Parts: sequence; C-alpha cells; structure tokens
Amino acid sequence: MRLLTVKDEPEAFKGKRVLLRVDYNVVKNGKISDTYRIDRTLPTIRFLLEAGASQVVVASHSGRPKGKDKKLSLKPIVKYLSEKLGSEVGFVEDVVNGDAPEDKKVVLLENLRFWEGEKNDDPEFAKALRRFGEVYVNDAFGVSHRRNASVHAIKNFYDKRYAGLLMAEEVEALTTVRDNPEKPFHVLFGGAKVKDKVPVLESLIEKADRLYIGGAMAYTFLKALGKEVGNSIVDEEHLDWAKDFLNRYGDKVALPVDHVCATAPVEECGRDYEVRDTEGVDIPDGLIGYDIGWETVKRYRDGLKGANMVFWNGPLGYYECEDFECGTKLLAIFLSAFKEEGKKVVVGGGDTVAAISTFHIPYEDFHFVSTGGGAALEFLSGKDLPGIEIITKKED
Ligand code: ADP
Ligand code: 3PG
Ligand code: MG
Repeated sequence: MRLLTVKDEPEAFKGKRVLLRVDYNVVKNGKISDTYRIDRTLPTIRFLLEAGASQVVVASHSGRPKGKDKKLSLKPIVKYLSEKLGSEVGFVEDVVNGDAPEDKKVVLLENLRFWEGEKNDDPEFAKALRRFGEVYVNDAFGVSHRRNASVHAIKNFYDKRYAGLLMAEEVEALTTVRDNPEKPFHVLFGGAKVKDKVPVLESLIEKADRLYIGGAMAYTFLKALGKEVGNSIVDEEHLDWAKDFLNRYGDKVALPVDHVCATAPVEECGRDYEVRDTEGVDIPDGLIGYDIGWETVKRYRDGLKGANMVFWNGPLGYYECEDFECGTKLLAIFLSAFKEEGKKVVVGGGDTVAAISTFHIPYEDFHFVSTGGGAALEFLSGKDLPGIEIITKKED
C-alpha cells in the first residue's frame, strides 16, 4: 500500500478547482525567512495547472498566531509565488466568508491559523475550506504531525485525498531512512532538547551502524558517563535514559572528546564572554560547552567517511553565533561533498536546514533535505501522522 498521488490520476484535476494544502510556515515579522518550503511545492502547483485544473487554491498556516496577527499574514508570499509561476496570484483575506477571485489561476488563502477552527480540527472550518476546491491535495508534509482542520478534519469532505509530489517524495525518502537505509548507515545528531529526540534516537539506533552525538544534548550523555560538563546545559530528567541508552548501544555511539566553551552564558553573540577550547573531554567548572571541538570534528569526519547513507538532524553547536558555528559548518561542508561520491545524506530538522541555509550551502548538494522539522522526526520515530493517515491509499 502506498499513497495515492496526483500523478496516479492526472485526469481527476481537469477542469476542476483544486484545494492544495502546503506548509508555508516561513513568514517571520512580515517577511519570508526562507523560500525552500515554497520552492519545493512549485512542481505540484505546475503539475496541477498542466493537468488542466481550472484553479489552484493554495492554503497554509504560518507561526502560532493568537488571532489575526498582521506580522504572520501570508500576503508577502503572493509576490514571490507570482514571480515564480510567471502569473499574478490572487489572495483571499477572509477564508470563512470570502471567495477566490475567478480570474486568477492560482490563489493563496490567508494564514489558516488566524481562525481557531484550524487549530481545533473543527469540521465547520474544514467545511468552509471545502468551498475552495472540488478536489483536495495535501502537499504539507511539514505539518502532517498536527491534527489541524485543513490536514485532518478535511477528510470528511472529500471522497479521495491526494498526496502532492512533495508529500510523496518526503514519505518515500524518509521511509527508506526509517525502514531500509543503505548500509553502512550512520546517524549524526545534535540540537538542544534531549526530550524531543528520545523516540527518534530509539528508532534509528536499531538500523544504524554508528551514531555521532553533538550539540547541547551531548552534555547529558557525557554527564551520564560521569564526565565533567562544567556549567553546560544538562537535561537532568533524561540522565537515566541516557545511561541506559549507552548501556544498550554504547558500542555504536560516538560522543565529543573536546569542546569549544564560553566563560559565561551567551546572551548576545560576541559580548560578555570569552571563548575557551578544552584540552580533552572534561569541561572545567565555570565553562559552558557551546560547540564540539576540533578533535571531535576530525573524528566524526573520519567516521562518517565509512557511511553510504547518513541521516543528520540537529546543529552540533550554537551555530547562530560565529564563535560556535565551526562544528556544524565544517561537518555540513564535509557532508555536502558526499553526493558527488554517490553517497546519500538525508537532512531533517528546522534548525538544521536553517543552518545549511545560513552557511550558503545549496540544498541540492544533499541527497534529500526534508521540509519537515517535527514532522520528519515523528515520522522517523515510527508514529502514524494524522495528515498522512487521511491520504487515500493505493494498492500496488
Ligand atoms: P532541529 O530543529 O534541527 O531539530 P533542534 O531544535 O534540536 O534542531 O536544536 C537546534 C538548536 O540547538 C539551535 O538553536 C542550536 O543553536 C542549539 N544548540 C546546539 N548546540 C548547542 C549548545 N551546545 N548550546 C546551546 N545551544 C545549542
Ligand atoms: C513546522 O514548521 O514544524 C510545521 O509547520 C508545524 O508548525 P507548528 O509546530 O507550529 O505546529
Ligand atoms: Mg528546532
């Protein structure tokens, strides 16, 4: 069984108005922060137009607005989409009472989360969305872990629910990583919150030949091993879990052997702290670990050379400040060369993708860069995601 995609039944869109749910959660302070999620949906929009759709009505949320917050309006996306598609895109401000302009081939709806019904998975809100399309396509992989009206309650209003091209690609690429990775399969994990990563680590470690840990989460593992971590961030509630995890899988796990630290908590990049490298794995009192050290970078690099497939999630340090970006940047550059050698690097995670973009590394230099943050991690944990569950399945 696989998802029914738009490619399976192109005739279904001929002469029809299509409601296309995407994840354009990219508007910050009235501006587009990064265009990757928008760009990745363009093939689906073009496909639907070429299949003869009379109109494509594109719907998304952005941020977590309380009410109609102007800074989170999707309006700035209209101009960008119009440029990319080469035709003027329409806009609907009032999603519940307004209508799509008939003279526009592509129309964008205002931020769905401006209405409580979206967040509450309210069938009444889904019914209002139903007015915009006779056919429904879901290309919003990034939000498929949320039980929201436009990706869940909407199921009640369409006999068939199609996956868009991006949704199909995401599910295929991440299913391979989860169930059938090419071997040797190595996993690189960083980031801050251990709690968010427990289920995905438990799932991926089963198939992984090697796991490298960096980022703030490394200090919880190092403390569990009895190392000195100075004043670094430790998740005390997950110390026992980390200890147990290392007992079970320690042979496969690599932890940092040195660190780049600050002498005080970093509130503003470059201000009110000094940078110190440690001599070895232990971090003296008073220092806070913010990045993996050079010896660790070399070891991780040399280890990763042995992989045919790599899954990477989470920055290896506090990359937002130049003082602590090296670990993430150097390994990102190193992994971006794998594609030329026929090795597959799959990247997931909102901040990881943002880091790649900060370093100006093109996404095309990786085998696959997921548009999902939380959704990708939940998918890889083996959970059923509501937004994918409702897509019609096809027997092969
Ligand atoms: P993703 O969104 O890719 O899944 P996370 O949300 O788990 O990643 O973590 C990203 C955040 O973790 C980034 O803001 C990064 O600066 C932070 N981070 C990584 N290492 C450290 C560290 N040693 N100290 C403080 N913050 C860190
Ligand atoms: C994401 O960016 O992870 C999705 O768009 C979901 O956003 P949310 O975490 O605000 O529900
Ligand atoms: Mg994050």
